[in-house]
Amino acid sequence: MSKILITGGTGNLGKALVKILDKNNISYTIASRKNKSGASNVAVMDLVHNKGIEKAVADKDIIFHLATDMKKDTEATRNLLQAMQPEANVHLVYISIVGIDEVPFAYYQQKLASEEEIKRSGIPYTILRATQFHEFIDDIFSKLLKYPIGLLPKKIIAQPIQIEKVAEELYQLSLKQPENKTDEIGGSEAYTFEEMAKEWMLQKRKKRLVINLPIFGALGRAFHGGKLTTEHKQKDGLTWKKWLESDKRK
Ligand SMILES: NC(=O)c1ccc[n+]([C@@H]2O[C@H](COP(=O)([O-])OP(=O)(O)OC[C@H]3O[C@@H](n4cnc5c(N)ncnc54)[C@H](OP(=O)(O)O)[C@@H]3O)[C@@H](O)[C@H]2O)c1
Repeated sequence: MSKILITGGTGNLGKALVKILDKNNISYTIASRKNKSGASNVAVMDLVHNKGIEKAVADKDIIFHLATDMKKDTEATRNLLQAMQPEANVHLVYISIVGIDEVPFAYYQQKLASEEEIKRSGIPYTILRATQFHEFIDDIFSKLLKYPIGLLPKKIIAQPIQIEKVAEELYQLSLKQPENKTDEIGGSEAYTFEEMAKEWMLQKRKKRLVINLPIFGALGRAFHGGKLTTEHKQKDGLTWKKWLESDKRK
């Protein structure tokens, strides 16, 4: 049986992956910066501060790298790679984001550099680039539309996806031999932020005066030009509307 490590196993995507592994009776270790409950399947490590990584990755066959740091994602990934032995028989499955090579956004540049580090490392890998999770878009609207008057960036086109479908794809990819390739996955429909916000307000029964702010320059062109979208659509996942209808956190 494979020995599995999940960095970011405590995060949104990590939790969805853990559910799939549990359902399939597959054991795993979660890497986290803390283990307050003292669970036996948690390895305490900090990817940015480079602590505990070697011990956590030792003897693992599959490493799902889902942990992220908005400012130091590349450093975190580099530290992980350095702790891994290139000659070890390991499959690194990394979650990335659709459009990171075309959207000039600081965090995306970090993710892109992380991808490059992985490709250069000599460690067998699969990269999966996903579009935005429904939960992420929901969090954005919760913040931007918290008050009666909300400011919303104009004309961003996104293709939100059900997080469980991304987790399922990661799991399926981990079962295959690593081909050192990059795949993409996106939701079944693309919308503008305005369309998604309208549906969000409807479902959450919130009335907001929304002021749409234009985004200028290269970032605006990328967002408006659909660079966050992919043709690799997940057909049977929940659409934004269906996800909002089913969202227990409403
Ligand atoms: N959100 C989206 O829409 C979206 C779309 C496509 C791809 N992605 C990618 O999917 C991945 C997971 O996203 P998510 O939304 O599930 O993230 P999340 O809920 O914010 O979770 C972040 C995870 O990173 C871990 N982490 C943070 N700093 C760490 C450090 N220094 N050392 C070790 N672990 C650390 C956290 O673990 P502890 O707090 O337990 O230490 C946590 O489990 C990210 O790589 C992101 O780029 C996200």
